[in-house]
Amino acid sequence: MPYLITHDLSVTLPDGRVLFEPVSITFEHGPIGLVGDNGTGKSLLLALLAGQTLPSPQGIHYSGHVQRDGDIAYLSQHITAPKTQTLAEVLGIAEQLRALAAIQAGSIDPTHYERVNDDWDIAERYQATLTQLGINAALSAPLHVLSGGQLTLLSLYRVFHSQAHIVLLDEPSNHLDRAARHKLVSWIENYPGLVITVSHDQQLLRHMRAIYALTPQGIAKYTGNYDEFVRTQRQEQEALIAKRTHLNKQHKQVLRQQQQSAEKAQKRESKGKRLRKKSSQAKSILDGQKESAQDAKSRAKTQFSQQLKRYQKQLDALDTQLPENNPTLYMHHSEPMKRRRLIKATQCQLPFGHPEPLDWSVYAGEHWLLTGQNGVGKSTLLRTLMGHHAPVSGSIDVIGDCVYLDQHFSLLDPKQTLLSCLRHHSDLSESDARTCLASLGLRSDRVYQTIDNLSGGEKMKVAMLAVSHQHAQPLLLLDEPDNHLDISAKHALVDALNHYQGAYILVSHDDAFIDALHLTHQWELGYHAASSLPSDQ
Ligand SMILES: Nc1ncnc2c1ncn2[C@@H]1O[C@H](COP(=O)(O)OP(=O)(O)OP(=O)(O)O)[C@@H](O)[C@H]1O
Ligand SMILES: [Mg+2]
Repeated sequence: MPYLITHDLSVTLPDGRVLFEPVSITFEHGPIGLVGDNGTGKSLLLALLAGQTLPSPQGIHYSGHVQRDGDIAYLSQHITAPKTQTLAEVLGIAEQLRALAAIQAGSIDPTHYERVNDDWDIAERYQATLTQLGINAALSAPLHVLSGGQLTLLSLYRVFHSQAHIVLLDEPSNHLDRAARHKLVSWIENYPGLVITVSHDQQLLRHMRAIYALTPQGIAKYTGNYDEFVRTQRQEQEALIAKRTHLNKQHKQVLRQQQQSAEKAQKRESKGKRLRKKSSQAKSILDGQKESAQDAKSRAKTQFSQQLKRYQKQLDALDTQLPENNPTLYMHHSEPMKRRRLIKATQCQLPFGHPEPLDWSVYAGEHWLLTGQNGVGKSTLLRTLMGHHAPVSGSIDVIGDCVYLDQHFSLLDPKQTLLSCLRHHSDLSESDARTCLASLGLRSDRVYQTIDNLSGGEKMKVAMLAVSHQHAQPLLLLDEPDNHLDISAKHALVDALNHYQGAYILVSHDDAFIDALHLTHQWELGYHAASSLPSDQ
């Protein structure tokens, strides 16, 4: 049975931040889900498990080591295959196809025959595989013809058919439509080796047999699926809260005792002074009494302060184990906007995907969900609205301000710091921008970190902040904004979107996220006639 064991593994960032306490743990008997808040270090940990070079080799240090038993296939959170690569190259069959083409063109070179290795129907087989994956493209097509979801699914296919003993996946369900998510679940469940999946996707995590939770304190293992993990974690947190309440009480009691003892000492002191004034007792006796009273007072003071320090330390330690306050995103809460048209499409033929001309309007205050299988043209529609693609015929116009959050965070300049990026996209003052970032867990000096060094979820949080603080409530085009976000940040996003008075068009494949939204319209983009359905909410 393949396994991975970490020995005192820990990661230190360029700014000296230690991400988590040294981790010594065994990963075996999957499928395993690796969970944790945005930025806790899951991706860096997974890269270390996979034996990858860390993203900033001079800046990020790790100590400890990983013991591996088995070959590893790894899929990173951000798939970075060059767009000019062909589908055949991603599938690892390009050389064989080239040799086959050469033989078909008359080559008798033995190396070509060796490469083909009697696999004469390889092209047909893999073309059929592409069709099964819902990818309607030739093996020789470059990767840029694929949608985000299709590229992820193709990469996952490659990983699960690599014969590796250990498969490591970093947020594999991002971008995938429902059918692709089902495929992913069945690949994970039926894989004969060990599969470790980093994810924030509750549906996917329900299929795990164990959950490993990463926090700054290290990793804790929970047997069972995600629901059992949530239950156990809730019980643990309730126990911690009860302990905190008890400690707080004791802390307050000591404070009270300290105050009472100080008041008593004060009374004794004044009494002593009065006695000294009128007493006939010898001065030396009174001085002795005064000295011993002062000794007792300072002993009590030391005792109390030691006790208080002890309680404070225990309270601080408990606080680090309890979740932080719920993060908040803010979208301008103002009066509902006057009904006016924001989008007008007339007989608009999109360049890719949807085959029929669109007639479509969107009005102020409408909240649209755009669904449809991977590759159907959701992102193409949003990009056409932004003017990044021209329609083949007809027209599509956006009337008024519009902000586009795409799947690759193009809104954010990777070289800007968090603070300057947020201020660039809003008219927030420095201190308000800092408060907003802090509410999402990006505190103090971290605001000077550059965008390119952020984790996936942290990037999405900054992007959502930038989008939320635009004035005049522009039309928002949000392409899978829930990807990468941890569960509490997803709740914050739902809350912000539900309070948004402006209009938005949102693409998402996450049912739990969608169910929580107050949508006014839902549109399943298909290969056939488009239909816009007012929802019943
Ligand atoms: N090259 C880098 N330079 C500096 N800091 C970095 C770099 N790469 C990552 N970090 C920081 O390390 C921390 C952990 O990053 P990592 O990507 O492992 O988080 P994660 O748990 O995978 O988060 P998410 O759920 O958002 O994907 C983050 O706070 C990130 O800002
Ligand atoms: Mg990550």
